[in-house]
Amino acid sequence: MDIQELLKGAVLIGKGKQGRVYKLASDRCIKIYSDEQHAQMEYMSYCRAEGSPVIPKLYEAGPNYLIMELVQGASLDRYLKKKGAMTRSDTERILFIIHEMIRLGFTRIDAAVFHIFIDQDQPTGKVIDLVNSYTKQYHIPLVMFKGLSKLNVLNSFLTHVKVLDPELYQIWANYLMARSERYGKLQVFDE
Ligand SMILES: Nc1ncnc2c1ncn2[C@@H]1O[C@H](COP(=O)(O)OP(=O)(O)O)[C@@H](O)[C@H]1O
Ligand SMILES: [Mg+2]
Repeated sequence: MDIQELLKGAVLIGKGKQGRVYKLASDRCIKIYSDEQHAQMEYMSYCRAEGSPVIPKLYEAGPNYLIMELVQGASLDRYLKKKGAMTRSDTERILFIIHEMIRLGFTRIDAAVFHIFIDQDQPTGKVIDLVNSYTKQYHIPLVMFKGLSKLNVLNSFLTHVKVLDPELYQIWANYLMARSERYGKLQVFDE
C-alpha cells in the first residue's frame, strides 16, 4: 500500500495524541500513527472487539496505519451542544456503548465525549480511539462524566440512568457521592 499516493488530496479530519486521521472516501478514513506501537495497540483492540456494532469496521491494517469506517454523525459533545439536552434515548445509546465495552472485556470502561459518536439515523452510537482500551484500567467512566458535567447534562444523564439501569447507577452514584467536591453537588442525589 502506497500511503503517500493514498493521501494525495485527502482531507485531514482529526488529530490526537497518537495520530492523524484523513478522510479517504465517504465511508472510510485512515489513521496514521507517529509511533508504530500505538498502531499495534489499536489494531489489537480492533481484533478483540471485532464484530461489535459500537466500533468502526476495520478495513486494513499496516505497520503505522489503520484504514477504518468513517463514523457518521457528530461527536457527543457537538451533538449535545447543538441539542442542548440529554434525552432518555441518548442515555440509552450511551449505556449500550458502556455495556458493549464491558462485554468486550475493555479494561478502560470510559471514553471522552469527543470519542463517542451519535448518529440519529443509526440504532447505535460508536466509540473511536481504542489505543488504550485494553491497557489502561478505568472501571468508572470519569472522563465521560467530566465531559457531560462541562456540557451541563451530567445530572439529566444520571437521572435517566437511575431509571434505565439501577444497578450501574448505584455503582456510579456511590463513586460520585464519595467525590462530590470534585464533581459538584448533583441534583439527582437529592431526589
Ligand atoms: N473512524 C472515524 N470516523 C470519524 N472520525 C474519526 C474517526 N477516527 C478518528 N476520527 C477523528 O479524528 C480525531 C483523532 O482520532 P483519534 O483516534 O482520537 O486519534 P488519537 O489516538 O491520536 O487521539 C478524533 O477525535 C475524531 O474527530
Ligand atoms: Mg483521540
